[in-house]
Amino acid sequence: MKKQEKKLLNLFATTPKGLELLLADELRALGASTAAEKLAGVAFTGDLSLAYQACLWSRLANRILLPLATVPASTPDELYAGVQTIAWDEHLEPEGTLAVHFVCSQSNITHSLFATQKVKDAIVDQFRDKYGLRPNIAREEPQIKVYVYLHRNQASISLDFSGESLHRRNYREAAGPAPLKENLAAAILVRAGWPEIAKEGGTLLDPMCGSATLLIEGAMMAGDVAPGLLRDYFGFLGWKQHEAKLWEKLVKQAQARSTAGLAKLPTIVGYDLDPAAIKNAFENIESAGLLSSIHVEKRDLSVFAPKPKEKIGLVVVNPPYGERLGEHPSLQSIYTLLGDRLKASFLGWRVGILMGNPDLGKKMGLRAKRHYSLFNGALPCRLLIFDVIPEYFIDRSPSADNERRIRAAKRAIAGQDQQAVQMFINRVGKNLKHLRRRVEREGVSSYRIYDADLPEYSFAIDLSADTVQVQEYQAPKTVDAKKVLMRRQEVLAVLPDALNLSPAKIFFTIIARPKKERPNRDRQQARR
Ligand SMILES: C[S@@+](CC[C@H](N)C(=O)[O-])C[C@H]1O[C@@H](n2cnc3c(N)ncnc32)[C@H](O)[C@@H]1O
Repeated sequence: MKKQEKKLLNLFATTPKGLELLLADELRALGASTAAEKLAGVAFTGDLSLAYQACLWSRLANRILLPLATVPASTPDELYAGVQTIAWDEHLEPEGTLAVHFVCSQSNITHSLFATQKVKDAIVDQFRDKYGLRPNIAREEPQIKVYVYLHRNQASISLDFSGESLHRRNYREAAGPAPLKENLAAAILVRAGWPEIAKEGGTLLDPMCGSATLLIEGAMMAGDVAPGLLRDYFGFLGWKQHEAKLWEKLVKQAQARSTAGLAKLPTIVGYDLDPAAIKNAFENIESAGLLSSIHVEKRDLSVFAPKPKEKIGLVVVNPPYGERLGEHPSLQSIYTLLGDRLKASFLGWRVGILMGNPDLGKKMGLRAKRHYSLFNGALPCRLLIFDVIPEYFIDRSPSADNERRIRAAKRAIAGQDQQAVQMFINRVGKNLKHLRRRVEREGVSSYRIYDADLPEYSFAIDLSADTVQVQEYQAPKTVDAKKVLMRRQEVLAVLPDALNLSPAKIFFTIIARPKKERPNRDRQQARR
């Protein structure tokens, strides 16, 4: 074994924001002696073998970097001088090829193209001065890729061992309109507990599989397939200190593990409504070498159910996105349908759902067990984890909504001074007593029992059979919104007892109607 192999290296792995903790665990499991979470990355230590293993086995990292130096770089000249402090001939032959990737934030230098050129010049000039020869710039598959991260005028200069982002596993031939990045899909599966479920032989189902990213990542995870095995380029393959024998040994080990792992894969199935998505899924599954391991077919969510032979396992899904609730009413019905299907046919299953808008999740009528904030590219999103057990079912009927709302109102006013609302209760009681006599005399079926009689409580309350309709006159913008909310909660909290009715019977709306349009005598006009 060469000396280099055992040398302890300080390394850095980049990852999408939100995945740092999982990545640190993953790196420790790969053998990192230390792993410290940073923003969108993990600083870790280990030998060269670990650096190679991280490139081959990390399902969560974007890049594996070997930091070379951190230098001050407030100006382009300072950046140039800093880059020249590194002995580049330790990493590259004078006639080798290189590329530079430059990222900057909160620094004097803001023009990254210009800065990239400055870094290239510094490296090339060093070779030219020393050897009279210069390396070439190569856009595609350079022998080394130099990664510069400039933050607050400090430039961290690294070799990018991954060469290109590790989320590119090399199986994605075709992508649908909103494919997940492969490392985000892997993170969703880890958070949902797929590695443990797969060990027990549980099934993996994705009812809206699109281009099959979750299914392929799930199969690779369960089958012990290294995510880097399909890649033929890494940033260390042309590095001057590359240990080719070590790398070949690690690849061979990974191939053997994959052969053994794929032989005992659990059932993995995906559905999608769109035939084009199913075609993409097939192509990707085929290029991942997983055609015999994953089944996909065209099927609508409305008939989503496990087959009798499918063992209880994990449903994982990334439904279509909507930016805001209400923007796409059809999206709401997808979530309601998904919740209904899960409650009807998936008792005992675990469910992981990645959604752009958590409000849509409420349409499912299932209480989430855990939730996580993640980023799908630049889009913030939430991962909700559910266990499909009756204790977590939420009744979404209008009467259940009323009850929930009144319970929340009671909680909100608990411990507050009740003097003002007591006046409201008294007034309602008095009106009711007076009206009931008339109702009995005239036999009317619905009547208004309160109409903003007290200026502070600007509500209209109608009693009809055994239900109550409460309408709140929309307050002018000059009225303090907190006060409006407090009055609303007080009214909702006290009405069931004041009217001796179940909270389920009390319906509430806000109406935009100026006060002067609601003459008080309306109340007197009981309707037949
Ligand atoms: C955001 S994409 C999923 C992307 C996927 N995770 C990937 O990585 O490619 C949502 C998918 O849901 C599918 N879909 C929408 N409505 C559906 C329904 N009612 N039944 C089944 N699939 C549906 C769409 O065709 C689309 O492929």
